[in-house]
Amino acid sequence: MNKAFREFDKTNFTKLLENNSIYFDHQLKKFLDTKNFGILKKPIEYSILGPGKRLRPLLCMETSRVFNIQNDVSIFCAIAIECIHTYSLVHDDLPSMDDDDLRRGQATIHKKWDEATAILVGDALQSLSFEALSEDQFKVSDQVKNKLIYRLASKSGASGMVLGQALDISAESSQKQLEITEISKLQEYKTGKLISWACEVGPIIAGQNIEPFSLYASKIGLAFQIIDDILDVTSSSKNLGKKAGKDKEKNKATFVSKLGLDNARKKATELVLEACEAISVFKDRSNNLCQIANFIVSRQF
Ligand code: IPE
Ligand code: IPE
Ligand code: MG
Ligand code: MG
Ligand code: MG
Repeated sequence: MNKAFREFDKTNFTKLLENNSIYFDHQLKKFLDTKNFGILKKPIEYSILGPGKRLRPLLCMETSRVFNIQNDVSIFCAIAIECIHTYSLVHDDLPSMDDDDLRRGQATIHKKWDEATAILVGDALQSLSFEALSEDQFKVSDQVKNKLIYRLASKSGASGMVLGQALDISAESSQKQLEITEISKLQEYKTGKLISWACEVGPIIAGQNIEPFSLYASKIGLAFQIIDDILDVTSSSKNLGKKAGKDKEKNKATFVSKLGLDNARKKATELVLEACEAISVFKDRSNNLCQIANFIVSRQF
C-alpha cells in the first residue's frame, strides 16, 4: 500500500461527512415523521436530531458503497444504528451511570426533562432501531434482514454494548487497576460492538465475506474509544459538546489512565494503519473507509 493512500485529506473528508450527514438527517426526519410518538416526540427528536457526528451511519453507507449498494437501501441500517447509539448515550448520561449534564452541545434529556423521560427515550430508541430494520421499504431479502437484526440485537445487548457498559461501571469501583487487556475488552464491548455492526452492513447486504470489515472495525472501534478518552483529558467541554475531564473524576479505566497520553495516541495511530491494511484488498474502493479511520484519530471533537 503506498503512502498517499494513507494520507488524510481533511477537506475532502469534511465534505464527505457533511454531505452524508445532510442526506442522513433528511431521511431520519422523514422516518420519524411517519411515527406517532405522542408526548415522547419532543424528547426523542431532541436526542436523535442533536448534532452528532453521524459516524456510524457513515460507516453503514460507506461499507455499502464498496459493493455498489445504493443509499436508499443502506439508509435503513444507518437509521437503525444511530437509534441504538443515541439510546446508549442517553442512558450513559443518566445519574446512575456517568451522570452528565451536557450532550451534543445541549442539556442531557434527564436535565431538560427528567430521569424517567430519559430512560423511556432510550427504551423507545432501542425498539425504533429494530422497527427501521423491519420496514417493508428496506429492500433486501428476508434472510439478509434477519441476519442484520440478529447481529444488531446481539451486538447491542448483554453480549455486546450493554455488557461493555456494565464492565465500565464496575471498573469505577474496582479495588485493583484493570490490566490493558481488560481495558481493551471493556472498550471492545462498549464501543467496538456497535461500530462493528455498522462496518458489516455492506458485506452482509452484498452477501460477501465480512472478515476484512470485521478486522477493520475492531481496529477503528478501539482507536475511536482511545481518542474519546484522550479528548476527555486534552479538550474542552465547549469543543466536545459534552463535559471534559470526566474520566478522571469518575475513576474510569482507560488507555490514557493506564498508558499515558503519548502512548495512548501512539496505539491509536498504529490501529489506523492496521485498519487501512485490513481493507486494502478493495483498493480504491476502500479509500473512503481508510479516510474514516484517519479521521477517527485526527478528530478534535
Ligand atoms: C460518543 O460517540 C460515545 C462513544 C462511544 C465514545 P460519538 O463521539 O460518536 O458521539 P456523537 O454521535 O458524535 O454525539
Ligand atoms: C460511552 O462511552 C459508550 C457508550 C455510550 C456505549 P463514554 O462514557 O466514554 O462516552 P462519552 O464520553 O460519555 O460520550
Ligand atoms: Mg460511559
Ligand atoms: Mg459517558
Ligand atoms: Mg468518554
